[in-house]
Amino acid sequence: MAHLTQRHAAPSRASCASRGRCVVPIAATTTNPSNLLKGVFKSANGLPAAQGPDYAKKVIEDEAKYVLQTYARAPVVISHGKGTKMWDVEGKEYIDMAAGIAVNALGHTDSQWYAALVEQAAKLAHTSNLYHTEPGVALAKRLVENSFADKAFFCNTGTEANEGAIKFARKWARVRAGVDPYDADATAPYELVSFTSCFHGRTMGALALTYKEQYKTPFYPMMPGHRLAQYNDLQSARAVIEKGKTAAVFVEPVQGEGGITPSTMTFLKGLRELCDEAGALLVFDEVQCGLGRTGKLWGHQLYGVEPDMMTLAKPLAGGLPIGAVLLKQHVADVMKPGDHGSTFAGNPLVCAVACTTFDIINSPTFLTAVEQKGHRLREALKCCMGSNPHVREVRGVGLLVGVQLDMMAGPVVDAAREMGVLAITAGKGDVIRLVPPLTVTDAEIDRAAEVLGAALNKVAPK
Ligand SMILES: Cc1ncc(COP(=O)(O)O)c(C=O)c1O
Repeated sequence: MAHLTQRHAAPSRASCASRGRCVVPIAATTTNPSNLLKGVFKSANGLPAAQGPDYAKKVIEDEAKYVLQTYARAPVVISHGKGTKMWDVEGKEYIDMAAGIAVNALGHTDSQWYAALVEQAAKLAHTSNLYHTEPGVALAKRLVENSFADKAFFCNTGTEANEGAIKFARKWARVRAGVDPYDADATAPYELVSFTSCFHGRTMGALALTYKEQYKTPFYPMMPGHRLAQYNDLQSARAVIEKGKTAAVFVEPVQGEGGITPSTMTFLKGLRELCDEAGALLVFDEVQCGLGRTGKLWGHQLYGVEPDMMTLAKPLAGGLPIGAVLLKQHVADVMKPGDHGSTFAGNPLVCAVACTTFDIINSPTFLTAVEQKGHRLREALKCCMGSNPHVREVRGVGLLVGVQLDMMAGPVVDAAREMGVLAITAGKGDVIRLVPPLTVTDAEIDRAAEVLGAALNKVAPK
């Protein structure tokens, strides 16, 4: 497990993935847009020609006018992508180390992904869950046969997956307590435990579990029955996981939004024991760390600990919206027709694309490559950023990587974007989060690290 958290240390020259390249002048980062667009536009996809700056300005102005302002978007208008590259409407090229927040696992417009999408779209996109359709069954079979689970439930997003898991846990606890779950006066364990710095989503149930108060306070009161414990602190967990009170414990095996922090082995194993002792369910939220991102198919495989339920979303259909809850049979047994559902969930289009995405990721060669690329990225970051005194730590696992700074990461991310590399922040805003497509190349990794190093030095000179 030593690789899970790598304390920052100045790397030896020999270990630096992009040795000798950290000093490349940043002026060279952007490919000449006209050359670039020629290449792109000769492909069969009929993309529009690059626009002038006024076009981007107009899109941004219209967005402010017509779209509810809940996002602080970067001032660029993205036009198209291929692999780990994206281009804005003016033709500027970016290396996309954000992948739509860990979603575009195969990069942009992967040919197999695209073929699956087109093939299914030509047949059938949506029926709701009124009828049986094949792709959802095929996806559930894949997920069940390649995990701890016995059943899959589909939804559309990560927060919905957690919402589903909350409901399944609540009903499971009522059935287990021996009460009639449909009796409004019946009482049973209903508390849900989550941890500091966790992120489980923005809908009211998942939001109650989510750590950051600023996401919650404007929408008070929160769902009752939530208990918070310190992440990676078993003593703290023990104090809130109680027999007769706790229905389920939600934890990310590797925290993403919270700052790219892996659970310790002791913590995750200990949580399993505490849940078993208390008769509570253990739920792993693998919305961000699941499906290959850690170099394992599931993040919890790094620990050898199995949950009762696991929630998935982001990369599952490689860019189309989908979520899933995987359940053990004892939880699945309590859910009956009519207990939960969604109009769009598990539609044939998204499930066909998810099957293809899953098949590509679920290969030993692919997963080993993710692990190796993650290692390369961490080493390259140490090489290119490590000499800046504002870097505290480079950490993570697989291609879920964080650079902990002693300052806010936003200005560095902004500077990197100007220089052609897209990254995001995490933690208290003091972590640079890198979650590139799992198909990112070594050259892209090296270049991204160089640019991030230069961006940090520009914002906070050594
Ligand atoms: C661990 C985790 N859970 C849940 C969510 C919520 O997913 P969504 O934004 O698809 O609702 C996220 C999103 O970042 C996440 O990282």
